[in-house]
Amino acid sequence: MAFPCLVSVLVFLSVIGSCFSYERDNLIDSCWRGDRNWQKNRMKLADCAVGFGSSAMGGKGGAFYTVTSPNDDPVNPAPGTLRYGATRERPLWIIFGGNMNIKLKMPLYIAGYKTIDGRGAEVHIGNGGPCLFMRNSNHVIIHGLHVHGCTTSVFGNVLISESSGVVPVYPQDGDAITVRISTNIWVDHNTLSNCTDGLVDVTLASTAVTISNNHFFDHDEVMLLGHNDSFLDDIVMKVTVAFNHFGPNCMQRMPRARFGHIHVANNYYEPWGKYAIGGSSHPTIISEGNMFIAPNESYKKEVTIRVGCTSSNCDAWEWRSIHDVFLNGAHFIQSGKEYTGGESFKAESGKEVPTLTRHAGALKCVPFTHCL
Ligand SMILES: *[C@@H]1O[C@H](CO)[C@@H](O)[C@H](O)[C@H]1NC(C)=O
Ligand SMILES: *[C@@H]1O[C@H](CO)[C@@H](O)[C@H](O)[C@H]1NC(C)=O
Ligand SMILES: *[C@@H]1O[C@H](CO)[C@@H](O)[C@H](O)[C@H]1NC(C)=O
Repeated sequence: MAFPCLVSVLVFLSVIGSCFSYERDNLIDSCWRGDRNWQKNRMKLADCAVGFGSSAMGGKGGAFYTVTSPNDDPVNPAPGTLRYGATRERPLWIIFGGNMNIKLKMPLYIAGYKTIDGRGAEVHIGNGGPCLFMRNSNHVIIHGLHVHGCTTSVFGNVLISESSGVVPVYPQDGDAITVRISTNIWVDHNTLSNCTDGLVDVTLASTAVTISNNHFFDHDEVMLLGHNDSFLDDIVMKVTVAFNHFGPNCMQRMPRARFGHIHVANNYYEPWGKYAIGGSSHPTIISEGNMFIAPNESYKKEVTIRVGCTSSNCDAWEWRSIHDVFLNGAHFIQSGKEYTGGESFKAESGKEVPTLTRHAGALKCVPFTHCL
């Protein structure tokens, strides 16, 4: 009777095994998402970025700070609020004591060496107020937030950081996440939609930025990389855009770039409203291993749009497509010299994109189990 018993044990083990079978993750998620003790090892996340922003430390090595109140005082923030943590001078790893909806009164200036880590809570920011703002800020990680309904702010005083103090600031244009004059920034696993201006805008000579694993939807101008066509300082900008899910209902700018070097890799594009990837002022755009699903209208099949160039100088802009997958008639007009490497990380084939992006957006994280 030992043999049938052994068989049934093996069958039992294989059934149990398939219950725990764990589909392959992308390069970022496979670094931490399998850890059932993620809540004890939160700072491990800081080792997991890829691409140009991969050195972003966030608040790694600093103390934890727990947000316990959704309230906001832009000038004299109370301990326990998000703004108090974000404006401290020292490195902080900011987490949330519970689910919360935060409506800010002024843009949230995030000082350097901060992680805002929404894992384990459902945190919504925006809700008809201004949102997240970085200026002269280095080493920031934004992870696991729902940011939507961000609107313009008024002229007024706001605490920039402990050392910069309270400063009057001009109205801001209503982005979910603004990055200006900042380096080593990583924006990962956020759910972003429906704001007045951009969802993630990176400008004013910011560089070393990775925007990954986010879900972008219901929005017009999704992502602007580069300030304006006379701001040559943006030539230093290097941005990686990877493993994001764009759609449904994204109109344009996924991204729209100026100057800089942009690696757009392994992203999933649902049908766009106007175009997917655009730019002016001769940026370098390497599109690698993305999946583009074109809209049905025959005149919207082209992925790219080049603004402000004549055919002769457009031909010199380096916009290359490698290992991309084109569905529903999508196509990509290439220009410039053939791509010879130097990409920001090793992307996979576009065929893998549905698997690599299936967990895009803020994850639901439960202690002692995976973040899903
Ligand atoms: C989008 O955001 C605006 C501004 O907060 C809000 O009034 C509107 O209801 C939101 N729309 C959707 C579809 O969520
Ligand atoms: C570009 O931006 C710079 C810096 O903000 C500004 O001084 C300049 O007027 C802008 N140029 C255009 C054409 O908008
Ligand atoms: C495109 O056409 C297909 C087939 O008719 C349809 O199923 C799909 O919903 C359409 N997509 C959009 C975005 O309109």
